[in-house]
Amino acid sequence: MSDLSRRLLPLLGNPGHSGGARDAMTCLYRCGNACDHPAPNSSANPYLGDIVSAGMSRRGVVQASAASALVLGLGGSLVSASPAAAATPVAHGGGHHKPVPQKAGKLTFQAVAPNTADAVTIPPGYQTSVVLRWGDPVVPGAPKFSLTQQTGASQSKQFGYNNDFVGVIPLPGEKNRALLVVNHEYTNEDLMFPGFVSQDALTSDQIEAAIAAHGLSVVEIERVGRTGQWKPAKGHRLRYNKRITALSTEFKLTGPAAGSAALRTAADPRGYTVIGTLNNCAGGVTPWGTVLSGEENFNQYFVGGDAVDAATKTKFNRYGITTTARYPSGSRKWDRVQERFDLAKHPNEANRFGWIVEVDPLNPGAPPRKHTAMGRFKHEGANVIVARSGHVVAYMGDDERFDYLYKFVSEKKYIKSDAPWARKHNLSLLESGTLYVAKVTGDSPAAEIDGTGKLPKDGRFDGKGVWIKLVSGNRSFVPGMTAADVLTYTRLAGDAVGATKMDRPEDVQPSLRTGKIYAAMTNNSNRGVGANAPADEANPRNANKHGHIFEIVEDCGDHTATKFTWSLPIVCGDPAAADTYFGGYDKSAVSPISCPDNVAFDSAGNLWISTDGNALGTNDGLFATPIEGKEKGHLKQFLTVPKGAETCGPFITSDDKSVFTAVQHPGEITGASVEKPASVWPDGDYAKPAVIVTWRTDGGPVGS
Ligand code: FEO
Ligand code: CA
Ligand code: CA
Repeated sequence: MSDLSRRLLPLLGNPGHSGGARDAMTCLYRCGNACDHPAPNSSANPYLGDIVSAGMSRRGVVQASAASALVLGLGGSLVSASPAAAATPVAHGGGHHKPVPQKAGKLTFQAVAPNTADAVTIPPGYQTSVVLRWGDPVVPGAPKFSLTQQTGASQSKQFGYNNDFVGVIPLPGEKNRALLVVNHEYTNEDLMFPGFVSQDALTSDQIEAAIAAHGLSVVEIERVGRTGQWKPAKGHRLRYNKRITALSTEFKLTGPAAGSAALRTAADPRGYTVIGTLNNCAGGVTPWGTVLSGEENFNQYFVGGDAVDAATKTKFNRYGITTTARYPSGSRKWDRVQERFDLAKHPNEANRFGWIVEVDPLNPGAPPRKHTAMGRFKHEGANVIVARSGHVVAYMGDDERFDYLYKFVSEKKYIKSDAPWARKHNLSLLESGTLYVAKVTGDSPAAEIDGTGKLPKDGRFDGKGVWIKLVSGNRSFVPGMTAADVLTYTRLAGDAVGATKMDRPEDVQPSLRTGKIYAAMTNNSNRGVGANAPADEANPRNANKHGHIFEIVEDCGDHTATKFTWSLPIVCGDPAAADTYFGGYDKSAVSPISCPDNVAFDSAGNLWISTDGNALGTNDGLFATPIEGKEKGHLKQFLTVPKGAETCGPFITSDDKSVFTAVQHPGEITGASVEKPASVWPDGDYAKPAVIVTWRTDGGPVGS
């Protein structure tokens, strides 16, 4: 036992606000204590009005024969849409949807038991290793990491803090090299800086290091031998390696709201460029080999919200920006090094965050973009599928209690080709299109939904839904709001059209096998509490501690449709509890799961789910379950992460040999510090967020 491990905090955690599951320290740093405040959605959400019905015209049903020919008949393989997938077996992003059944068969790994170990625990017959940890060099020439001498300049060349989304992009023509793209969602200064006393006591260098520890990393990786293990590539020019930071990286704004008045600032009077990206949570890989990344709890980084005018306060409040005090609780006070974070001086700066970011890892010189056509909210992430018509459809969640599910349908169609002209075209797909928000209804009598999670008489939580059109190109479908208004204040547009309040929609991912869409509703401690919206069939438990999975089947399997059916295949929690449901599978045979957050698929179509804030009292983990057929709902825990950590990613390579997982905020337990860590993972000294890869020792597929 090392000296440090002897100093491990004995704490299991200091309950925060997220259903009592998350540690208070996580609540503070990750979302600025969002749960301390009333949920920002105070709308009454009236039923659909005439104007909304008028906007619900069906689009994209007629197949455009010429363009469709470009995308049809090009192979229905799961990963066929990825430009380099044919050469490289690691792509697993969105793709052209040609339904194929989920492969039959069981998951073969032995479920990992719930635990509170300060370790990554995996099934027998598997191995795991760290790929990259906080502070590892990313850009050639990066200085060796020094805990005591962190600066914005050094951190801008090193792997950032609190890795969340993980994507693997194949390198054209390479079987054993790829680009790992990772989000760095937020920082925890208590666990980053030795001797941390308070945010006020940090030096300018330390603040800049924290700002630079936000953003993304792009790192070339290589396979170890013929195994499923991957490590950072060495020994050659790493021309793709790149840090994108909140400190200094310039982004381009695209789409109808770019250049609009609300996006102009003193630094950018035209409203077309933004410095940095904030709180990048989940994301997705596109069929054209780019990465999408969601800007989530951006609200917490700004100060001075109390000084803006009343109309601006209304908008800020809907996004959770503090307007009653100069400093939000736990503020990092970044205005000390960059004045733009002071809304009293630069009220529009906050409007430049909350977007979907697109990064092209294969073109390191290209500026990352923020796509205004995809709306502005607390974006968890975005995942793309190519509809039968060739339009690209992105599914997105707004991660806040009582907020909404969205989808975006591109105006233009995907072209399946590696030719430079085709890629250029595909890179423009998310710049124009139609944005929809979901309204759902249940098919069981309201009286049968009692808020306990008891199944209604028809045996299923299920029903119908409509995608309500908010904006299409420059045309708004929301009365009193311009297209730029709808895109910049999308939550207010969703309120106006009566969107359905959901239990914190996190990651939303289409299955490229079946075309069905799966959304994680992580939890909602306020559901049915006080004056808050009560349980409904889509969110059937009051004070929802454990969350559920929401499945969408688009009308006729057409991802551009405006109608869908839905059901809840999994209602999470302790399988022994009456309020849980695992697709009808024998509950004595499934693993307990709580607070689903990120979802992914392997090539067989099994659903993988990572958790954030296990309210059952054990460590977070990664789970997998078949989602069709006899084994549907046979959920098994694949791994657990160390104390205090959240499981993010995950990403399963399309050869099914490797599972990439982000271990976020290990040791984030109130009272912990660098000197007195609550976790010493991964190196035995102090806690470091890191990306790991897990593979089967015998080289077989990780799932079935
Ligand atoms: Fe960053 Fe929605 O979790
Ligand atoms: Ca029902
Ligand atoms: Ca998340």
